Amino acid sequence: MADIILGIESSCDETGAALIQSGKILSDSTTTQVLHQKYGGVVPELASRAHEKLIVSAVSNVLRDANLKISDLGAVGATFGPGLAGSLIVGTSFAKGIAQGMNIPYVAVNHMEGHLWASELAFGKLLLPALALVISGGHTMLLEVSSLGQYKIIGSTRDDAAGELLDKVGRVMGMGFPAGAGIDRTALSFEGNSVSFPRGKLRDDPYGFSFSGLKTAVIYYLKEKYSYSNGRYSIPQEEIGGVCKGIMEAVTDMLLNGLQNAVEAGNYQSIIVSGGVASSGFLRRYIEEYSNLVDLPLYVPPPRLCTDNASMIAYVAEKYYNLGIFSDLSLPVDPSLRLN
Ligand code: KG4
Ligand code: ZN
Repeated sequence: MADIILGIESSCDETGAALIQSGKILSDSTTTQVLHQKYGGVVPELASRAHEKLIVSAVSNVLRDANLKISDLGAVGATFGPGLAGSLIVGTSFAKGIAQGMNIPYVAVNHMEGHLWASELAFGKLLLPALALVISGGHTMLLEVSSLGQYKIIGSTRDDAAGELLDKVGRVMGMGFPAGAGIDRTALSFEGNSVSFPRGKLRDDPYGFSFSGLKTAVIYYLKEKYSYSNGRYSIPQEEIGGVCKGIMEAVTDMLLNGLQNAVEAGNYQSIIVSGGVASSGFLRRYIEEYSNLVDLPLYVPPPRLCTDNASMIAYVAEKYYNLGIFSDLSLPVDPSLRLN
């Protein structure tokens, strides 16, 4: 029997643990820290403390659900970047403690590799090289994926990430935090006309993105039309749908434009779209249409594997473990860790 690997995720506001064996998830316990909602964003100091509180039960839960003991583990992996330093330290230190105490290998995992390979976890062997669009709260980038550890960044955002834009405009629209899923749902169910917002385009970079212009345009639109109090604009219920639809149309257009430019310039066997924003039903519809048009297989994981989760971290940890690639216990976290 192949070894059982524990994966730990604590880069931002999800505390998670998952067990994997031979590419199959045995159990996953990922909790979103709801305490940040009332602040309208993740408060780093509170996130670290919440991870410290939640990590013990996350690990106990996955062991109990899979009917296993800590002594059954063959290795332990944890996200060591990118993310919030204090949060990363909680997860990696917990993992290192287990590795040291049980005398098993420790595998430090890049969170972005987790998002990328969540597609393989969901669909099985991928056709490579793939063009990947990773869209989350912290990142928006296009990259070429040749194999494990072999990535070439083709383009990324100059300013806000796609999820960051949705969360920022959603906050002043009173849509809570994070706002992406709410904006997406509202846009999908609205059948009326959308508000037209400008699409940001970079003249000198066909594969790059810029979302700050859209953010400003949405805020100006709200400012002109609605009154502002208590940190939000009062938008009549019947008008929210048109604004959300307009935002999702602009975001989708910009993401598709970069994807399309990269597909046309490269030679790819498939397309991967992952990260929290890839949960968007609105976006998925257009991306599916496009992949059919260019006749490339499309791998978009189910929403629970698009948003931050420990399964994707366990999956990458197992891939490295199977190659005999482990990390030293003295390896520090790297909040601004890059992919290549
Ligand atoms: O990947 P993720 O869980 O965390 C990071 O690594 O950042 O992504 C979180 C982002 C948030 O900005 C959230 O608003 C967005 O993903 N998001 C969505 C949806 N679900 C989450 N955006 C659009 N549609 C959704 N259904
Ligand atoms: Zn993430």
